[in-house]
Amino acid sequence: MILRLNGVSVRRSGRTILGPIDWSVGPDERWVVIGPNGSGKTTLAQVASTYLWPTTGTVEVLGETIGHVDARELRRRIGYAGAGLEAAIDPALSALDVVVTARHAALGPWWHTFTDEDHGRAHQLLAEIGAAGLADRPFGLLSTGERRRVQIARALMPDPDLLILDEPGSSLDLGARETLVRDLAGLADRPRPAAIVLVTHHLEEIPRGFRHALVMGDGRSIEAGAIGDTLTGRALSAAFGMPIDVAVRAGRFTARLSAGPEPANDEVHERPSRSARTSGR
Ligand SMILES: Nc1ncnc2c1ncn2[C@@H]1O[C@H](COP(=O)(O)OP(=O)(O)OP(=O)(O)O)[C@@H](O)[C@H]1O
Ligand SMILES: [Mg+2]
Repeated sequence: MILRLNGVSVRRSGRTILGPIDWSVGPDERWVVIGPNGSGKTTLAQVASTYLWPTTGTVEVLGETIGHVDARELRRRIGYAGAGLEAAIDPALSALDVVVTARHAALGPWWHTFTDEDHGRAHQLLAEIGAAGLADRPFGLLSTGERRRVQIARALMPDPDLLILDEPGSSLDLGARETLVRDLAGLADRPRPAAIVLVTHHLEEIPRGFRHALVMGDGRSIEAGAIGDTLTGRALSAAFGMPIDVAVRAGRFTARLSAGPEPANDEVHERPSRSARTSGR
């Protein structure tokens, strides 16, 4: 098992913000975590990536129980990207340094030394995620979408066994989002990382190859398991407290507020336009 949470809860300021929750992620599994604002997704991602200790319960990551091992060693095997980490990155660091420093699970070059191979790998990861041209630019001056890419390259730098991405698609424009979804689908197909957890708000951002889902509501798991059984209108309606319809088309999910019976002219949007048809596309 890559990740196993048993009776995990997190309390802050006298309030339970996560759990109690049980959740397991096995090898070769790619999970989507979805739920409303404040439902505990980021807290869960931080617990899973060993950056946050739970108030109750046990967390096993990569065969080790948190609290019984040196978390710094474990963190080298976990790739993590999220808004909290982004805020902690020195804005003056170059994009390349942001990536390469993940080699030692560090936030700055400090006393670490890096080999040509490390730098080569960082360049390659930036190129793979479409950010080759950003290597020398200061992280703090990058656009939101560019910072997202650099963070993903950083998360992949240690060739992690477990990759956790907390909302990598937030604030991306349409093209950047679609490119990200494509790249994550490609990553999902590879043997490594052994397991991937993707926190997202949008069902449209679920890449192919992600076959498990955890639906959260109010710090708890509402549904967890195979994506087809889990990402249902029923589960999302329960999580969001409103009637939601889910549709799957060509392997991509969409969700929207239940509108009752479909309007008869809705299919107009589906049909290619007259000019598209006559031009043979
Ligand atoms: N240190 C803290 N002290 C008190 N409350 C906290 C703390 N950290 C988080 N919370 C609260 O815990 C709840 C869960 O937060 P979390 O960030 O995990 O939600 P989320 O599902 O990631 O939300 P979003 O979709 O907005 O990112 C929120 O209500 C948040 O305000
Ligand atoms: Mg969050």
